[in-house]
Amino acid sequence: MASLSRALFLLSLLVLTATISSAHNITEILSAFPDYSQYNSFLTQTRLADEINTRQTITILVLNNAAISALAAKHPLSVVKNALSLHVLLDYYDPTKLHQISKGSTLTTTLYQTTGNAPGNLGFVNITDLQGGKVGFGSAAPGSKLDSSYTKSVKQIPYNISILEINAPIIAPGILTAPAPSASDVNITALLEKAGAKTFASLIISSGVIKTYQSAAEKGLTIFAPNDEAFKAKGVPDLSKLTNAEVVSILQFHAVAGYTPIGTLKTSKSPISTLATNGAGKFDLTTTTAGDQVTLHTGVDSSRVADTVLDATPLAIFTIDNVLLPLELFGKSPSPAPGLEPSAAPSKAPVLAPSPASVEAPSPLAASPPAPPAPPLETPEGAPSEAPSAESENSTSGNGAGHVASPALLMTVLVTVCATVISSVVLS
Ligand SMILES: *[C@@H]1O[C@H](CO)[C@@H](O)[C@H](O)[C@H]1NC(C)=O
Ligand SMILES: *[C@@H]1O[C@H](CO)[C@@H](O)[C@H](O)[C@H]1NC(C)=O
Ligand SMILES: *[C@@H]1O[C@H](CO)[C@@H](O)[C@H](O)[C@H]1NC(C)=O
Ligand SMILES: *[C@@H]1O[C@H](CO)[C@@H](O)[C@H](O)[C@H]1NC(C)=O
Ligand SMILES: *[C@@H]1O[C@H](CO)[C@@H](O)[C@H](O)[C@H]1NC(C)=O
Repeated sequence: MASLSRALFLLSLLVLTATISSAHNITEILSAFPDYSQYNSFLTQTRLADEINTRQTITILVLNNAAISALAAKHPLSVVKNALSLHVLLDYYDPTKLHQISKGSTLTTTLYQTTGNAPGNLGFVNITDLQGGKVGFGSAAPGSKLDSSYTKSVKQIPYNISILEINAPIIAPGILTAPAPSASDVNITALLEKAGAKTFASLIISSGVIKTYQSAAEKGLTIFAPNDEAFKAKGVPDLSKLTNAEVVSILQFHAVAGYTPIGTLKTSKSPISTLATNGAGKFDLTTTTAGDQVTLHTGVDSSRVADTVLDATPLAIFTIDNVLLPLELFGKSPSPAPGLEPSAAPSKAPVLAPSPASVEAPSPLAASPPAPPAPPLETPEGAPSEAPSAESENSTSGNGAGHVASPALLMTVLVTVCATVISSVVLS
């Protein structure tokens, strides 16, 4: 039995660790340094701060207020975002490591590389240990100069986050001159059609919701467009049988006021209001994240966020795999729109753990160790219609308690530890 309690203790430790959803808070760290208040503000405006907070091992190359202002004054926010994302290195460099680069020069990956906008070497930064203890930074694109130099260390939390000051921005070729259409110039429906969301595009035109989108876009808008396959799936209600107002609500439910790129979706802990929201807690979405995969939940069904169609502050457009069915329209009826069960529930999304409580508290295990908890964790998506009890709905959409850093990881941990517990009980 000693081994059992040891295993349970281990389990609770692991669960605690896995529940911490972000590693650090860059906004808070930089707020202690007034020299970087502008830089910090741009990290917030571009939502790069959220992306940084989800990364475990990272180096931020900061510019003082004068240097960042000079850069930002001449360019729209979407360009500033790309430029700054080249200053976020996906590796840990403290001053010691900077001066110990093997062979004196290395290329390191940046956040810009992860955007998919960076062909060739454009998403990499060249760090070179120069003569006389100077360290130079430049784009890794061939022919680039090492125009930025390390000036000083700002802060380190060893092996997790390092903040270093450089004297001038690192500029990759083309990064400042790339076309940056303003939100009002973007042809939303043309982009959607090109991205395989023709049905959705024609619906927002025919319903007039496109006007709502366009007027919201300049202040910030995020669109989740179901692809054409999603509308053909079994279980999607026949839109022609719904009222105009219902169709409009559904389409508004697929957009969120505000710029919410993927890194922000990953870190969002509370329910997200949509353009259909007309009162607290109405027409909200919740999110869960597993690694880089974000899943949206309506309380009736859920959908993977598939591809980024556009990420240009203040407008973000994603495609999703399923039509999002708002709880307010499809949750209450005794027999929801025919056939919500099978196709509305993608098997690839191992999320929406039925009882967040079982994730946070190991007590159910302690009560009956031999009962493996794995099956209940795997059923929810498979059987949404018979058991989306109001209770589980409340627990997921009500307070975001279901949000954990990585449900998949957590599940693996739980299953592994349970196996250990069971085998130690059986063997002793
Ligand atoms: C990070 O810190 C800032 C400033 O202290 C705060 O406003 C923000 O809510 C924090 N973010 C998270 C995710 O805790
Ligand atoms: C970094 O840039 C310098 C100067 O252009 C170049 O000599 C060096 O080879 C580059 N380093 C790497 C690893 O490509
Ligand atoms: C660094 O990150 C790891 C993993 O999140 C964490 O366990 C550790 O405590 C962090 N170190 C510091 C000094 O915060
Ligand atoms: C947007 O694109 C669609 C075709 O996808 C076209 O019919 C429409 O005229 C375009 N709108 C504007 C304002 O250019
Ligand atoms: C769910 O939450 C709503 C509002 O918070 C409440 O009125 C309702 O009774 C709850 N349902 C259950 C089953 O707890």
